[in-house]
Amino acid sequence: MQKRDELYRGKAKTVYLTDDSDKLILLFRNDTSAFDGEKIEQLDRKGEVNNKFNHFIMSKLEAAGVATQVESIISDTESVVKKLDMIPVECVVRNVAAGSLVRRLGVEEGMDLNPPVFEFFLKNDALHDPMINDYHVTSFGWATASQIEAMKKTTFAVNSILKKLFDDAGMILVDYKLEFGTDAEGNLILGDEFTPDGCRLWDKETRKKMDKDRFRQGLGSVVETYIEVAERLGVALDSV
Ligand code: C5P
Repeated sequence: MQKRDELYRGKAKTVYLTDDSDKLILLFRNDTSAFDGEKIEQLDRKGEVNNKFNHFIMSKLEAAGVATQVESIISDTESVVKKLDMIPVECVVRNVAAGSLVRRLGVEEGMDLNPPVFEFFLKNDALHDPMINDYHVTSFGWATASQIEAMKKTTFAVNSILKKLFDDAGMILVDYKLEFGTDAEGNLILGDEFTPDGCRLWDKETRKKMDKDRFRQGLGSVVETYIEVAERLGVALDSV
């Protein structure tokens, strides 16, 4: 497969066209950003760790019956993915209170959320990704009612699969963000990424933060901790 022009450059990944009109190449860069791009740093090896981590998680999800965008890993920092028409909303599920939920509602960090909370956010940097509800999504035509139902169903299916995967490796899946798109046939497919950049993970015993909050909160050892998460899960970091 031949890499062609850059299609889109995000805060941590670059998307390239390829000679196959149905496929794209995702490049995971070392750039790490927080607070709408106000804090940006290059963290050595992060692109490689996230690319391999994402491939591992997406393969687990595929095996459990979730349709994902990922096709194959082609280098330390690149994967081939299906071209999707992305839906411009973020689907967040929270099992434990943290982050913006704590700031917004004044609840205590660490409180178990039963049932888990589902939230939609609009992907719009200029507006700081505001929280929206189902009515905004349908009224503004970002997704149909049946796509909303499918996104919720899949996001909760992912929760069951990944909560157990992380629990078995001694971690709590606190919350995470997913993004979806549609393929040429209109099927809803899980896109973007699942890495410690887009979820919160705490050690089950000590509650040590093992995700991008280490970067946001200046806790240090960011990539070292991502590697610890990967090693606990059995992600092969040496090979492609
Ligand atoms: O910031 P907040 O608490 O709303 O984030 C909820 C979850 O979604 C966190 O795991 C965070 O890393 C993820 N997220 C993300 N990208 C965003 C916003 C949130 O990956 N733009």
